[in-house]
Amino acid sequence: MIILKLGGSVVTDKSRPFSFREEVVRRLAEEIRDSDVEGLLIVHGGGAFGHPVASEYGIEDGLNEPGQLMGVAKTRAAMAELNQRIVEVLVECGIPAVSIQTSAVFECRDKRIYSGRIEPVRDFLGIGAVPVLYGDVVVDRSLGVCILSGDQIVAYLAERLKPEQVILATDVDGVLDKNGRVIERVNDANAPSAVEASFVPAGDVTGGMKGKIEELLELAKRGVSSVIVNALVEDRLKNALLGKKTIGTLFEVKR
Ligand code: IPE
Repeated sequence: MIILKLGGSVVTDKSRPFSFREEVVRRLAEEIRDSDVEGLLIVHGGGAFGHPVASEYGIEDGLNEPGQLMGVAKTRAAMAELNQRIVEVLVECGIPAVSIQTSAVFECRDKRIYSGRIEPVRDFLGIGAVPVLYGDVVVDRSLGVCILSGDQIVAYLAERLKPEQVILATDVDGVLDKNGRVIERVNDANAPSAVEASFVPAGDVTGGMKGKIEELLELAKRGVSSVIVNALVEDRLKNALLGKKTIGTLFEVKR
């Protein structure tokens, strides 16, 4: 089984609010279909739908004033819309994608998942469907609400569902070093320098590449390996799904 995160920077154009990259998503859906993996779970990010609304209302740091409630509603609505558009394309391409509403599954405490009712996810996987979850605004028991990133969902589900591989499809070739070269492997030894070299783009409410590296290192410690690939380049996602060597950054599990 594979858990695939489709980054918000892949499925949308982050420089333009509410811009859905339909052509890209269609090509990726075809790559997914052609790779014919057995057992697939997809989580997508918020990109140009989730981040601008969440940061406009400042809800990444919780609920501090009543006016923010409209931000919660609008972020939820924006994510539902993006999710629907992605699922539609997947289904059109012959993938049995089934949307699962993140905020109905997870609750957080201090921005970390505190409870997750993942039986429906497991059961849809069990019948051969492809569950699709997404980064979203969820209830936070200490902050009111928070933004739960797709990356954290991936890490949580991977720990419990034990996929053979986690793939993070992004718009960069992998984790880059200070000279802009792809770091092929990240492990405990070079993790600190990899974290230092990565940066958080303005307006990203969930931590950018730095947040990803931290989630993936944690995951590797728990025995699940993962790879970051640039899905804007044709066939990289497909090769990663097929387990073929491709340009990207691998987070190794120590054996
Ligand atoms: C963020 O999810 C969801 C919202 C902002 C509502 P992610 O953190 O997984 O999104 P990307 O992949 O960075 O865009």
